[in-house]
Amino acid sequence: MTKHQIPTAETPISYQLRGTVAVLTIDNPPVNVGSQAVRLGLVHGIERATSDGVAGAIIIGAGKTFIAGSDLKEFGRPLDWPQLPDVIAAIEEAPFPVVAALHGVALGGGLELALGCDYRIAAPGTKVGLPEVSLGFVPGAGGTQRLPRLVGVSRGIELICNASRIAADHALDIGLIDAVVSGDLLDAALDFVGQHPEKRPVRSIATPSETHDVIEAAASKAQKLGKNRPNISEAIRLIRRATEPEMADALADERRVFQDMRVGPDATALRYLFFAERRAATVEGLDGRCAKTIAQVGVVGGGTMGQGIVRACLKAGLPVTLLERDETALRMSLEKVGAHLDAQVAKGRLDPKDRAEQSERLSGAVDPGVLAQCDLVIEAVFEDMQVKREVISQLEPVLSPDALIATNTSYLDIDAMSEGMACPGRLIGLHFFSPADVMPLLEVVRAEQTSDTALATGLKLARTMGKQPVVSRVAEGFIGNRMYAAYRRRAELLVLDGASPQQVDAAAVDFGFAMGPFAVADMSGLDIAWAMRKRQAATRAPQARYVTIPDRLCEAGRLGRKTGAGWYDYSSGSAQPDETVDALIDAARAEAGVTPQSYDCDTIQRQLLAAIVNEAACLLEESVAQRASDCDVTFANGYGFPRWRGGPLYWAALQSADGISADLAALADAVGFGHVRGPVDKVLNGIKDLRGS
Ligand code: NAI
Repeated sequence: MTKHQIPTAETPISYQLRGTVAVLTIDNPPVNVGSQAVRLGLVHGIERATSDGVAGAIIIGAGKTFIAGSDLKEFGRPLDWPQLPDVIAAIEEAPFPVVAALHGVALGGGLELALGCDYRIAAPGTKVGLPEVSLGFVPGAGGTQRLPRLVGVSRGIELICNASRIAADHALDIGLIDAVVSGDLLDAALDFVGQHPEKRPVRSIATPSETHDVIEAAASKAQKLGKNRPNISEAIRLIRRATEPEMADALADERRVFQDMRVGPDATALRYLFFAERRAATVEGLDGRCAKTIAQVGVVGGGTMGQGIVRACLKAGLPVTLLERDETALRMSLEKVGAHLDAQVAKGRLDPKDRAEQSERLSGAVDPGVLAQCDLVIEAVFEDMQVKREVISQLEPVLSPDALIATNTSYLDIDAMSEGMACPGRLIGLHFFSPADVMPLLEVVRAEQTSDTALATGLKLARTMGKQPVVSRVAEGFIGNRMYAAYRRRAELLVLDGASPQQVDAAAVDFGFAMGPFAVADMSGLDIAWAMRKRQAATRAPQARYVTIPDRLCEAGRLGRKTGAGWYDYSSGSAQPDETVDALIDAARAEAGVTPQSYDCDTIQRQLLAAIVNEAACLLEESVAQRASDCDVTFANGYGFPRWRGGPLYWAALQSADGISADLAALADAVGFGHVRGPVDKVLNGIKDLRGS
């Protein structure tokens, strides 16, 4: 649309005169994203207020929030006029002061708009932030210039490069906003305009001065945390320019970087993931309205996972009752949860008031009858079918008929678990990842008989807990652990065939994984996969090559960090290569008749990825995963896959078809199947269709 066209659609901005003050209300449900129509409406509103000769104007959001961010759907193509800097220019040029009245959230372009106003006031509880770097680009409408002018360069680097969201009180303390107001927000804004009749654009404010060292320290910390991605370096460079007396050059520089980066590879991949994550929370044909309201949760089993799930429920504001086998185990589990909360308070991550409030919502019991009031009971007892069945048979008679039961099993067959239940439709898998209060991924497992209500409730609970759900059908390891097992198997075969564990780990980290597969195995314990291999021994394909090295490590008592040694030795406190492991590897190679070959980093990376891609294709063919993008969401949220690469399937879709074919052929040779099973081409074409959405 050009400057002179009049919008045909109804504008999402309403204009109202309150005495001599113009009120521009943004009404673009559900979260007032800053679309082109919103920007146009704001420009027209400011023009109208100018011709009305008002004394001031207020920009305020209707509904539950100010502006949750810009409309990402517009970001993959050229942006239409007016762009956000045009709106801000209109506000700055207006002859009257403009006050942004914030509530809910003011994020990204929403905060940049507010920073373009003369004043900012906020309702208590409002959250503000510039999360653009988490989407692969930089703020593009003055955020890197106006924010540091208010809060300083080092704090600007910290807030922008960490994509922080901060609460209104904190924003007030550091000078980002001018007031936190209680009562009716519009009335407070009208009062505020009355008391502040002068214009005061942020561009007229000088950036607070700081020492070089303070700024350097903030910059190097941000670079490291941001994994040296190009947008982090650019954000830091731009924020440093906020000390220049005039803003115009730096603003043009920022806009150019923003325009380049928003269509660059990182941003395109991250945008793909953004939409893939929203899609993953949906199931075709499922009416979310059948979800039950969860007011009271029960957790059975207070071990590693049970404690984490309890903490996650408390964090989400839910009342929880923890059930353990006996009083001693119960006391221990509750003490551990309490100690964890204390540690959070000591680290400044939890307010003492919130800690007390969380404790009040937690209770413990050893009698299942106490769980009668729960709407949902999550079992996290030992990974043993018999134990889990017994727990479920104790729960069913005491729970109300429409209460749901969830299992946190990692590998057990949930269909088999539901056999003998009076009401198998109430059983669902909720596979949390450890630590359950930190890891974002939640696999919501839909067993054969799981009811729509149970499924919809699982998805709703994920939202309440701030988790990323992915829906899986029953399969050994569901989606994530199955893909991960294929990746780990390939890593082990690479070692058998000539690479060192250190070389494989380094290649994975170089690709962007948080840790390499052998470092991860040592951290989580080698015994879990050992048990899985034993379980699968009878059904293993006879032609599949088998790597005995991890079995030998386990037999030698090297179960990972918890025993001081695994693939690495930890006696010095950090992971060190170990001659014993080298000797085990040599012996395994000799036993298998392997002549070690050398591998370069690129080959290792491509083989690791090929294994994941192939397994994902199998999961799709078996309908365990609903869609290809769900596999990407799973790996990016639960397995340390670099988000800026979109996901393993997204990565593969960017490679040449010949390259991927060659990788898959090499994979087939290495694993010993002679052929690759999954319909990879179909899957990758599906991903290509989603790119740029
Ligand atoms: P754990 O051994 O640390 O804890 C199990 C707890 O259940 C113990 O505290 C035990 O006293 C309690 N328990 C056993 N029988 C009980 C009964 N009849 N009534 C009440 N409490 C009972 O095990 P962990 O690691 O917490 O695993 C629990 C479940 O979560 C397993 O199914 C596991 O596969 C799954 N899981 C584990 C993950 C991990 O990283 N550890 C990750 C995801 C799932």
